[in-house]
Amino acid sequence: MARQLDEQITARFPLGRRLRVLDVGMGQGTQALRLARAGHAVTGLESDPGMLATAREAFALEPAGIRERVRLIEGDGLETGVHFLPGSFDVVLCHGVLMYVSEPDAMLAGLARMLAPGGLLSLLVRNGDALALRPGHAGDWGTALEAFDSAMYTNRLGLRVRADRLETLTATLAGIAAPLHAWYGVRVFTDGSAADAVVPDGEELERLLSAEDRAGRTEPYRRVAALLHLCGVRG
Ligand SMILES: C[S@@+](CC[C@H](N)C(=O)[O-])C[C@H]1O[C@@H](n2cnc3c(N)ncnc32)[C@H](O)[C@@H]1O
Repeated sequence: MARQLDEQITARFPLGRRLRVLDVGMGQGTQALRLARAGHAVTGLESDPGMLATAREAFALEPAGIRERVRLIEGDGLETGVHFLPGSFDVVLCHGVLMYVSEPDAMLAGLARMLAPGGLLSLLVRNGDALALRPGHAGDWGTALEAFDSAMYTNRLGLRVRADRLETLTATLAGIAAPLHAWYGVRVFTDGSAADAVVPDGEELERLLSAEDRAGRTEPYRRVAALLHLCGVRG
């Protein structure tokens, strides 16, 4: 997913430009930290005080030059208008968050408003078109059968949360003036891996990432990925 995001950023913005990035639901700040280290000005918005504290600890270890470019704010992604002026960001990330949001359209409309013209909205969502795959591969046929007609699923934390369908989000993005520009599948092969599975390293990890990346941009594999990475561009 990071490769895909970098590809979109590189294609849209001049090399070396310091971009204004908003990461909504930044969690422990993995992407925010990566983009700050790459030279961008990053604002992280996170509703969970514990997560925010973890992110603050991670950023505190960074050199002053990076820390100065980062703002971390406690708040709800549904209320970006309370914190920021419209058009204040070049890139808005909302990764792994829509699952937990009961009114995704309202949040997405607010995020699109935060983008300057030509700005990039990067969404990572659970693929609602492929919810039967995980239980099916696990031999849980009852859950697999239910999943065909459901927009909800039980995540690895045991929470009942939402998934999103490509067609629906494509229409939503068009309706909020940030039409879909590119999309990828994420976790085509590795979704079924056990949480405690050993992650390969070195060349084997590189092969794994390359195989996932290739599948994530190739039909028909990307359509049944566990996650979808959608990139809208503000008109
Ligand atoms: C699965 S984590 C994803 C973290 C990070 N974006 C990533 O991709 O690794 C979801 C995060 O979104 C946050 N979150 C959920 N709903 C939110 C909301 N309405 N506003 C802001 N943050 C939210 C959660 O507290 C959690 O830290």
